Amino acid sequence: MVTWIFVEFDEVDSTQTIAKRLATDDAPEGTVVVAKSQTSGKGRLGRDWVSPEGGLYMSLIIRPYNLSRPELVTLASAVAVAQGIRRTTGLSTAIRWPNDVMVNNRKIAGTIAEAEFHGHDVTHIIVGIGVNCNAGFSGIRGLQEEATSLGEELGREVDVSELRRTILDSFSQAYGDLQSGEDTMLLWRKHVMTVGKHVLAKLKTSEEPLSCIAVNIDPRGNLIVQRDGAATIIHPEDLEWLREET
Ligand code: BTN
Repeated sequence: MVTWIFVEFDEVDSTQTIAKRLATDDAPEGTVVVAKSQTSGKGRLGRDWVSPEGGLYMSLIIRPYNLSRPELVTLASAVAVAQGIRRTTGLSTAIRWPNDVMVNNRKIAGTIAEAEFHGHDVTHIIVGIGVNCNAGFSGIRGLQEEATSLGEELGREVDVSELRRTILDSFSQAYGDLQSGEDTMLLWRKHVMTVGKHVLAKLKTSEEPLSCIAVNIDPRGNLIVQRDGAATIIHPEDLEWLREET
């Protein structure tokens, strides 16, 4: 299990930026930068992450020593958030591959994993986690997806510290399994709602979204899709967005 060391702020530009700085200054594995709000929260692919007070915003520093597939940390973080929300609130959660956590088909949380390398070796990974808790989010991001919050879904406020604890416990477990080489994919696939669905996948390399069927997640965490009878592999880093086709 990871021992968590908290570095807490009221407001920061981005916990991700601060955690990166601390990691470069040799902060130990388990350091967690937490803020009540962010003025410049960062999402995947350079997007903004709207971060008003009432949400959970944290960035964890991990220093894997035995990870043959560090890219799976992204999926582990999404699984931890999905489990943490379910255990704390009873809400039913699902992952939209690779790292969006959904409740009732709306995005409630997102994760980002940014790795730093020395040659081929990973020196550290900064795992950023943002959960929409007690502020209203519907319509804020509106452009590509409908967002929601735990407060909106439950009709009451949630205890953000309890949620933080549960997510960190789940992450610690998932990360431990990964480090000990356990095959976690079977378990994780159960959380990924994308599998078996008709999806539209917008890749960075093409103008038009790809209309295909998501058939599986491979052992490295990539999405296998089928189109016109042929299988193609989508790597998370090539994906701009993915939606279920209606
Ligand atoms: C995404 O879905 O695009 C990922 C969003 C990750 C947001 C979190 S909030 C805490 C941490 N600090 C940031 O600036 N970003 C991550």
